[in-house]
Amino acid sequence: MEKDISKILIDQEVILRRLDRIAERIERDYAEGDELVVVALLNGAFMFMADLLRRLKMPLSIECLRVSSYHGGTESSGTVNFLDRTSPEVSGRKVLLLDDILDSGRTLKAVAEKLTDAGAAEVRSCVLLVKDRPREIEIEADYYCFTIGNEFVVGYGLDYLEKYRNLPYIGVLKDECLLPEHRS
Ligand code: IMP
Ligand code: MG
Repeated sequence: MEKDISKILIDQEVILRRLDRIAERIERDYAEGDELVVVALLNGAFMFMADLLRRLKMPLSIECLRVSSYHGGTESSGTVNFLDRTSPEVSGRKVLLLDDILDSGRTLKAVAEKLTDAGAAEVRSCVLLVKDRPREIEIEADYYCFTIGNEFVVGYGLDYLEKYRNLPYIGVLKDECLLPEHRS
């Protein structure tokens, strides 16, 4: 797996140090007594969720939603599919939505709308990465850890064709490890 990586963009130590800061900010921003529901989007947010939440000392509950927007490649498909049959119970609750990356913005937007429709009192979002690119959808994350250029990355939860999610850092794949149709 390591041999497929052309460069490490953000190493594990840097990620974890940044999560310390973001966790402090989140704790400061929520008032005491807030009953937070964290909704994490799987599979991409699994590592981010585990490392961020273990840094929060406030009471919270966790829900996971399976959403897909990529269809086997490096470009967003344009539609967001909800893969679960039920939605988390968020009525009247404050929700903190966690995702791996804000790319086109469609995923965060669709999920935030769904949770608002389900009666959430408030929906904020927290993402590990924000891709620096023009966005068709107007949405910003309330909390983000890093901004990256408009390039395809893997690791720390992010995949290419479901691989590389377990790399402990964020990296860029060698061109030769991409299918011919995804090469630059
Ligand atoms: P959006 O709906 O276009 O913002 O896309 C969000 C989803 O696309 C993320 O949750 C990721 O699963 C996937 N994605 C976007 N950019 C990348 C990338 O560079 N590497 C891996 N997955 C990505
Ligand atoms: Mg993905």
